Amino acid sequence: MKPEDIKKIGVIGCGIMGSGIVEVCARAGAAVTYLELDDEQVERGRARIEKSLSRGVERGKLSEDDRVGAMSAIHGTTDYEDVADADLVIEAATEHLQTKLEIFRVLDGITRPDIVLATNTSSLPIVQMGTQTKRPDKVVGMHFFNPPPVMKLLELVRAITTSDETMDFARGMGERLGKTVVVAKDRAGFIVNYLLTYYLNSAIRMLEEEFATKEDIDTAVKLGLSHPMGPFELLDLIGLDTMMSVAEVLYDEFRDPDVAPPPMARRMVHAGFLGRKSGKGFYDYSS
Ligand code: CAA
Repeated sequence: MKPEDIKKIGVIGCGIMGSGIVEVCARAGAAVTYLELDDEQVERGRARIEKSLSRGVERGKLSEDDRVGAMSAIHGTTDYEDVADADLVIEAATEHLQTKLEIFRVLDGITRPDIVLATNTSSLPIVQMGTQTKRPDKVVGMHFFNPPPVMKLLELVRAITTSDETMDFARGMGERLGKTVVVAKDRAGFIVNYLLTYYLNSAIRMLEEEFATKEDIDTAVKLGLSHPMGPFELLDLIGLDTMMSVAEVLYDEFRDPDVAPPPMARRMVHAGFLGRKSGKGFYDYSS
């Protein structure tokens, strides 16, 4: 299929990344059905999308009519059968390999054999998801960045099993979604998260060593490097659990102690201090 012929997109998972991907796809004119685990999560996902679209209107990025149009193109479900007729499925479930492998087995069984199955994984091996299916040539990484409606990059990840045809399709699809596409091989962390893990881990270690305060490190990076956020603000946005599971995957692949999750971050994840999504991370968001 050609990207312009894609009418219905299935998105698996409607958390921080999934909801953003649903929004991006609906704003590009597709009908989108997203799958969540239960009705409460379906509702939570919908509320997240509503909020982001309204923010887009407030910021002058889309019209009120486009907001209403996008919302009416989006449907939440807890039943896999509702994505069976999708022309493309993007998996954006939790960053847990066994969960993703199971999702790919199910998707392969219910969707048309000719459609592309993409994963938004931020570090896990694409090839393993491909080999759960009878169409490994049609499995590709489409890695969006947080928040997907704002961030312009789409990292395509090519497994050793992915075909040229699938890569061409994914590139065209990314462009249709308004993204700038880069291509990386299927190696832990791809381009961005490989670099990001060294950077964020170094910031956490600076804090562990009491080298500087988190506020000063954030200010230094914002004003000295012109980043929109400092490392601790960014960790809170991404979620410490997500970032530390990326770090685990990188450590597993490269055995470089510099990418292993620093003890401070591990303890924070155990305590539930995950960042914005839990109301507390390096900073407090309870108010
Ligand atoms: N739709 C479209 N545009 C939107 C929008 C929406 N729903 N919400 C906001 N925007 C636009 C705004 O209009 C504004 O655009 P302009 O610059 O053209 O005016 C821009 O987004 C910034 O928005 P705000 O002014 O509201 O500023 P903010 O403080 O809320 O910005 C931020 C928040 C965009 C997150 C910004 O701080 C930022 O870019 N931070 C860095 C984010 C980052 O690095 N993400 C990558 C994380 S790594 C990752 O994701 C990989 C992984 O796998 C872990």
